Amino acid sequence: MKLTIIGTGYVGLVTGACFAEVGHRVICVDNDAAKVKTLQAGGIPIYEPGLEEMVRRNVAAGRLSFTNDTAEGVANSDVIFLAVPTPPQPDGSVDLSFIERVAREIAGAMTTYKIIVDKSTVPVQTGDKVAETIKRYCKAKVEFDVVSNPEFLREGFAVEDLMKPDRIVIGVKTQRPVPAMKEVYQPFNAPIIVTDINSAELIKHASNSFLALKISYINAISVICEATGANVQEVANGMGMDERIGKRFLNASLGFGGSCFPKDLSAFIKIAEELRYDFGLLKEVQRINSGQMDRFLKKIIDTLWVLKGKKIGVLGLAFKQNTDDVRMSPAIELCHRLQKEGAELRVHDPKAMDKAKALLKDVTYVDEMNAVADGCDALVIATEWEEFKQLDLERARKSLSHPILFDGRNLFDPARMEQLGFIYKSIGR
Ligand SMILES: NC(=O)c1ccc[n+]([C@@H]2O[C@H](COP(=O)([O-])OP(=O)(O)OC[C@H]3O[C@@H](n4cnc5c(N)ncnc54)[C@H](O)[C@@H]3O)[C@@H](O)[C@H]2O)c1
Repeated sequence: MKLTIIGTGYVGLVTGACFAEVGHRVICVDNDAAKVKTLQAGGIPIYEPGLEEMVRRNVAAGRLSFTNDTAEGVANSDVIFLAVPTPPQPDGSVDLSFIERVAREIAGAMTTYKIIVDKSTVPVQTGDKVAETIKRYCKAKVEFDVVSNPEFLREGFAVEDLMKPDRIVIGVKTQRPVPAMKEVYQPFNAPIIVTDINSAELIKHASNSFLALKISYINAISVICEATGANVQEVANGMGMDERIGKRFLNASLGFGGSCFPKDLSAFIKIAEELRYDFGLLKEVQRINSGQMDRFLKKIIDTLWVLKGKKIGVLGLAFKQNTDDVRMSPAIELCHRLQKEGAELRVHDPKAMDKAKALLKDVTYVDEMNAVADGCDALVIATEWEEFKQLDLERARKSLSHPILFDGRNLFDPARMEQLGFIYKSIGR
C-alpha cells in the first residue's frame, strides 16, 4: 500500500521502516529540515536496536523515502499516519497544536479520498476535532475518514514491538476505512480490534496509566520491604507467577520517566478532571513515583552526609536501557538534584551522552563505563543497561575513595556486593 507518516521521530521512523519492511511503500515526512537531511543522507537521528539496518535495506529497495513536504506525502498516499508530538502543557493537559497544524496541512493538500490515521497519543474525542478541522480547511470537496490507531511500542524494543505487536487497535466512525487498515496490518499477523474512535483513544491512555500504576505499586511495596527486611524482588517474583498479575513491570526502581508515562498520566488525570471525575488513584501513582526519587536521594545523602565537593560517578543517563532518549529521564533528574547538593559528577551512558549534553551541563562525560568511578566518593546506577552488569567491580572498588554503590535499578546481588567489600544500597532489598 502507499502510506505516509507525518512526524519522523521515535514512533514515526520506526513505524515507517517496519511498514516498508513488510512491503508497503512509505513516505516519511518531517518539518525538521536537519532531520530529513540526515535521513536522506543515510544517517539515523535516533538509536533504536535494529533500526539502522532496516532503514538502509528499505531505502535501498525503494520502499522508504524522506521529505519535508507534507503535500507530497498526501498526494502520493492512500493512508496518512500522524506521529507528531503531543507534549504536556504546564497544567498537565496535552498540547494539541502539532496535531491541529498537521490536520490543516493535510486538508489543504487533499484532492482525493484519504484515510487519516492518528498514531500520536491524544485525549479521548480528539478524532472528532481532527475530522472537524479537516472538513473546515479542505477546499476540495473530497471525502475522508479519520481513524485512531494508538501505538504501544516500547523505546529500546520498538522494532521488535512493531513487527510483533500484541494487538492492533483500530478506532473508526464508519466501516469504510476498515478494509484498508486491515490490509496495512495484515502482514504483522496480530489480533486486530476494531472499536469506535473514543474507545481506541482511551485504550492508549488507560494502558499507559495502568503500566505506570503497576510500577508505582511495586515501588510502594519496596518501601514496605525496606522497613521490614523483606526483598522486593522475591515479593515481585512471587506475585508475578500468578498469571492474573504477570511478572512484567514489577521491577522496583528509583521511578519511571521518559517521554510517555509522566505526560500520559498527567494528561489522563486532566482529561478526567475535565469530565468531572477526580482520578485520585492516578494522582497517587504520580506521588509514589516522585517519592521514589526523593527516597533514593535521601539514601545517598544519609550515607555520604555532605555532598558539597564530593565526586559521584553516575552510570546511565537515558530514561531506560537500549535507547538514547533522555526526555524526562529520572537519571538526568537525579544528576540535577545531586548537582544542587553541590556534588561533582562523572557520568556515562552507552548511547545517550550526545543527547544528554543538551540537558546536563557542568559534568564530566566519561567514554568508558569502567573509568567512571575513578577518583569518586561513590558510584550510582541510574539506568538499567544490561552492560552495566558487566562492570569491573574490582576496579570500581579500588578506584572509589570508599567502595559505596547506590543501585537505583537493582542490577547486582546484595550478598555478592557485600562479599566484594562494597557498601551497597539498592531499592527494596
Ligand atoms: N516514544 C514512544 O515510546 C511512544 C510510544 C507510543 C506513542 N507515542 C506517541 O507518539 C507521538 C510521537 O512521539 P515520538 O516519541 O515519536 O515524538 P518525537 O518527538 O520523537 O517525534 C515527533 C516528530 O514529529 C515532527 N513534527 C512536529 N511537527 C511536525 C509537522 N507539523 N510536520 C511534520 N513533522 C512534524 C518532529 O520534528 C519530530 O521529528 C506522541 O504523541 C507520543 O506520545 C510515543
